Amino acid sequence: MANSRRLRMDSRKETMKIRTPRWTAGRVDADLADPYLYTDEAHREMWRQARGEHPVAWTESELAGGFWSVVTHAEGSEVIRRPTSFVSDQGMRLQANPAGVRAAAGRMLVVSDGAEHRRLRGVHQAWFNARSVAALVPTLGARVEARLDALLARGTAFDAIAELTSEVPRWALFDLLGVPDEDQDELARTMEAAFDDSDPGPAGEAARTAAHTRIFGHFGDLLDLRREEPGDDIVSALAEAAPDGVPLTDDEILLNCDGLMNGGLETTSHALAGALLVFARQPDVWRRLREDPGLIDTAVEEILRWTSPALHALRTAAEDTVLGDVRIAAGDRVAIWYPSCNRDEKVFADPDTFRIDRRPNPHIAFGGGPHYCVGATLTRLEVKCVLAAAVERVAEIEVEGEAVRRPSNFLQGLSHLRIGLTPDRRTGPRSGCGPRSDPEPRSDSEVGPGPEIGPGPVNGASSSGTSSDLRIALPGADSGTGTGTVEVRSNQEVTFGRGLIGAPADISVDDPTGEPIAGRIRAAEDGLWFITNLSRARTYVVENEEGGGEYVCVPPGRLDMPVPFAHARISLPSSSGSTYMSVRAPTPANAYAATSYAADADPAAQSDPAFALDPRSKYFLVLVALCEPQLRTPATMAIPSTAEIVRRLSPLASCRRISPAAVNFHIEYIARNKLGVRNQQPPSGRSGGNWLRQAVVSTALRFRLVWTEHLALLPVAEAR
Ligand code: HEM
Repeated sequence: MANSRRLRMDSRKETMKIRTPRWTAGRVDADLADPYLYTDEAHREMWRQARGEHPVAWTESELAGGFWSVVTHAEGSEVIRRPTSFVSDQGMRLQANPAGVRAAAGRMLVVSDGAEHRRLRGVHQAWFNARSVAALVPTLGARVEARLDALLARGTAFDAIAELTSEVPRWALFDLLGVPDEDQDELARTMEAAFDDSDPGPAGEAARTAAHTRIFGHFGDLLDLRREEPGDDIVSALAEAAPDGVPLTDDEILLNCDGLMNGGLETTSHALAGALLVFARQPDVWRRLREDPGLIDTAVEEILRWTSPALHALRTAAEDTVLGDVRIAAGDRVAIWYPSCNRDEKVFADPDTFRIDRRPNPHIAFGGGPHYCVGATLTRLEVKCVLAAAVERVAEIEVEGEAVRRPSNFLQGLSHLRIGLTPDRRTGPRSGCGPRSDPEPRSDSEVGPGPEIGPGPVNGASSSGTSSDLRIALPGADSGTGTGTVEVRSNQEVTFGRGLIGAPADISVDDPTGEPIAGRIRAAEDGLWFITNLSRARTYVVENEEGGGEYVCVPPGRLDMPVPFAHARISLPSSSGSTYMSVRAPTPANAYAATSYAADADPAAQSDPAFALDPRSKYFLVLVALCEPQLRTPATMAIPSTAEIVRRLSPLASCRRISPAAVNFHIEYIARNKLGVRNQQPPSGRSGGNWLRQAVVSTALRFRLVWTEHLALLPVAEAR
């Protein structure tokens, strides 16, 4: 790679009248297209020198040929805002496959210009404006909260990229695109292969092309499906779109689906991971954000400036022109290096400092001009969702091991970031569901060391666990003999899933399409045990092996569901059928029997393990307001509207600024995460939204999760 790390200046431009700048500083010796150049922080110094010497310079790369490099904010902004002088339809990234660019030019948003670009942009715009994107909030917010709760409850370090930052943009974009749940993992993996730039040679290029072909195959199938059964999603909308009266061709639809995946997944993951890293390295900044969540909006912008996930965008000069103090010839390629522009000291005071309250913050992380990122609003929302959920729950973020940067000259960011999260001790870990046998916030010594697994994990070692251990027979093992089993001591837990290289699950499940960590099993005292389902779309079934046909379903996202069976078989749906694990609880097994209610206590005051709610939370206030009419007048079936709940709660100091979107979000969250109602099918003929509310109210009242005393949490009702 040493050879390719040379930056060579071209003398051919010196024949021009305007001087041709060179970056002369001693350490500027890199090939700017070298993907490994951006895997450490040293390149920032290169940018700093370059900005000081030549905002626009001719650079030569062994990998990508010759091109102009633009490294300052003013000149970078100028290029992207002069779309007739600097066009995109010759390719918008260095080393793009020329045949691919020719096939996509004028048909894919990011490599189109003028009227063709406007036509395609109009079709996309409706899906990415603030209103459309806001509709994602309830589901996305709930998923982010549930994932954070799960990670916190686990109490061990994890790979933030695999388990959090790459998931959030997938949840959002796959939802928008209407990608069926069962295809999502495979598609996500193919995307990773399509953008794996670590091998810039022909073999790497062939692998990337093959992956793009598979992505087209996926979307081709989806397009066929949506033509038959249109849904409320982008693929259906593209299939029906006819801008200026002309429908989009199949190629145009597939290219633009690919374009959204290219634009929308890794970029956002990099921004989120970069944010976690900065908050881990600067705990005082994290503390400040937690103390003043009003800073989240400026924090989001600073995260975008600071991480600048898009490394460059390319243009081709359509005419002889002048940029800064250089003359550019028609046909020359021009690369704008966004991270350098976003640390330009002429625009950003103290550019190498992460300032959470930086304002104004005119970064160009999303580009500018007609190609301004169509997903900018969505990205801001995603980052905001994560910050909003994390400030409430996470006291500290700690990095364990090395933060590994991904080799690429196009997108910059982390490929591995192992972190540990300390729960907010003001509220304790918000696992939110089920009782904890360790109800107090965990002590420091308990957070981090991970599960204790008995010594007989695989292949025959006999159990040396004590009779109070939970014994799990591994997939494919013989549950009766003790071969291939793990023991889990009380108050410890084990994870299961396909794992990742360097981050295996405790119990390996051989399912290439499954989640790296698909769930966990926790042993409590008295033989009680809990199962968590961290999959996106698979319901696990736990059967009572002692007969009776009893079983419980564990829906996706369900945390710490208590299992009342001493001998149980867990079925995990997988790509090749089902995988089974058996669990043997120590006897006496059923800890529910030990739970005794005081005769005179209101049973509702004992929290039902399956529906643990936090009466101090805002969602609980929303639930009480939702149930209020039926609590006050049991004979009524009335369910208040969103607007009525907003009016009912807004006199409370904690709800002064509660919005309709927030109310809907909380209801969705309760339905999905707290009561599991979201995972049931509405009876036929019932509309989704109102059915959901009725189901929430009915569950809450039936299980006495809210009762009349809770009405005191609401403001005094106005006299009618
Ligand atoms: C941190 C997150 C993101 C960053 C840093 C980012 C960055 C950018 C940049 C710099 C451009 C301009 C490219 C150019 O000038 O040639 C762009 C365009 C684009 N981005 Fe993003 N992006 C992000 C997220 C997203 C998301 C979430 C989506 C979609 C779901 C998306 C889809 C697109 C598309 C389709 C374009 C082409 C727009 C056009 O040509 O009109 N991006 N993005």
